Amino acid sequence: MKLRQDNKIYPFLLNNEWKESESGKTIKILSPDDESIVGSVPSMTQEEVDTAARASKQAQLEWADTPIDERVALLHRWADELEKMEDEIGAIIQHEVGKDVSSAKGEVTRTAELIRYTAEQGLRVKGEYMTGDGFPGGGKNKKALVQKVPHGVVLAISPFNYPVNLSAAKIAPALVTGNTVLFKPATQGAISGIKMIEALVKAGLPQGVLNLVTGRGSVIGDFIVTHPSIDMISFTGGTETGKHIAKEASMIPIVLELGGKDPAIVLEDANLDKAANEIVSGAFSYSGQRCTAIKRVLVMEDVADDLVRKLKEKVEGLTVGFAADGANVVPMIDDKSANYVETLIDDAKDKGATVVTTGERKKNLLYPTLLDNVTEKMRVAWEEQFGPVLPVIRINNEFEAIDLERRNKYGLQASIFTNNMEDAFRIADKLETGTVQLNGKTSRGPDHFPFLGVKNSGQGVQGIGRSIDSMLRDKVVVINL
Ligand code: NAP
Ligand code: G3P
Repeated sequence: MKLRQDNKIYPFLLNNEWKESESGKTIKILSPDDESIVGSVPSMTQEEVDTAARASKQAQLEWADTPIDERVALLHRWADELEKMEDEIGAIIQHEVGKDVSSAKGEVTRTAELIRYTAEQGLRVKGEYMTGDGFPGGGKNKKALVQKVPHGVVLAISPFNYPVNLSAAKIAPALVTGNTVLFKPATQGAISGIKMIEALVKAGLPQGVLNLVTGRGSVIGDFIVTHPSIDMISFTGGTETGKHIAKEASMIPIVLELGGKDPAIVLEDANLDKAANEIVSGAFSYSGQRCTAIKRVLVMEDVADDLVRKLKEKVEGLTVGFAADGANVVPMIDDKSANYVETLIDDAKDKGATVVTTGERKKNLLYPTLLDNVTEKMRVAWEEQFGPVLPVIRINNEFEAIDLERRNKYGLQASIFTNNMEDAFRIADKLETGTVQLNGKTSRGPDHFPFLGVKNSGQGVQGIGRSIDSMLRDKVVVINL
């Protein structure tokens, strides 16, 4: 694979000006594939971040007053500009977060479609009209006009694994509803985010309506989260980060999309070939670095041997290597994450798990590992691996599956594989998750479906319509005749 080096500093955006930080400090971003330099982004000073937040606040009233058709038109132009940059941005996503190029380009296409759908959905936001006589003593002389109005400034904080799609999934609904945005991309993903916003500037972003800040969340995060100009936070990332943000931010609405430990529950009558296909794809695509990755298999003992055999065959058929070469299993985002996955595997092996298939480790490239006979005593049964390891837990009945799911601290999604829809719904009704997939792998799309996690997987709901709702509040005008 050709080593690509780019020593360019990709600037932050303040009032539609691309700027470098007066601190002179930058953060170098290395590719997970080969540690080649993707580029650098400014490590902004607190003063610069403060100016950016205030700029978003300054622009908000005028943006909210902009006719909806103009806000919608901006989003459509943004989608068009993104599509023109698909190859360029796809290549940067691939280089920066180690996603194979077809998935990376697919992320750009998916995002353009998300933006267009959001634009059209944004046109259809409606208020409400109520009369007082609907309530005893209310009287016909009272008329209520219930409007939907923007919160003000939305702080959009996104994770590394979908640096464009999960950012736009916050920015587009915020803009179409008349909010302005302070955008904080994941540092590993910031260049992809900057290129995405370049497309928005090309589309005619009015000055100050979106400001983009760069810098490590651990350094500038608390400052932006508690900044007085911020009126709503939409965060996607790890559970511990989300919990911290929720503690720091107070008195403003917050939507959190966090970690998961999604199970695939396989019943005796499941189509095992389909289940094996969906499970391996769900568990190992992008090396399992997806919140909705299948992160454990709960399989009925009677079919466990057959399923494990099928899983082994498919895991061993996965290509392993560089994202730039289009491998299925790619280097993880960093060494620290790979080390964590290794500790989970070692813990399971020490406690008696069967290693069905595994492989070597080359720096942050971990070969996929399939573990059988995993028990509750093993950390990998409960902790989010966010990497290419899949634990199989054998169960004797559905109640064990439900119990394991309910005792798990996460509640994002679950898959149930069975041909009996009555069994599927009976089990689904008892699972404490945001979504249950029947005979399919756990996944977020399509992007207009509600997407949510409960327990430690989040609060509030995303998905285009729900995201639009989350960026608006009621404002009631009562006419007393
Ligand atoms: P992360 O480490 O929590 O970072 C997420 C974002 O938060 C990044 O932009 C990060 O900035 C920022 N951040 C970190 N500390 C902060 C603070 N104190 N205040 C404000 N912002 C702060 O998560 P990640 O490693 O990017 O993504 C992996 C995790 O996210 C996994 O747990 C995965 O399950 C979860 N995730 C969930 C979803 C979902 O939709 N539910 C989707 C994707 C990922 P820096 O990059 O500068 O640290
Ligand atoms: O972790 C990102 C999360 O949003 C998963 O998205 O589409 O891969 O299920 P998806």
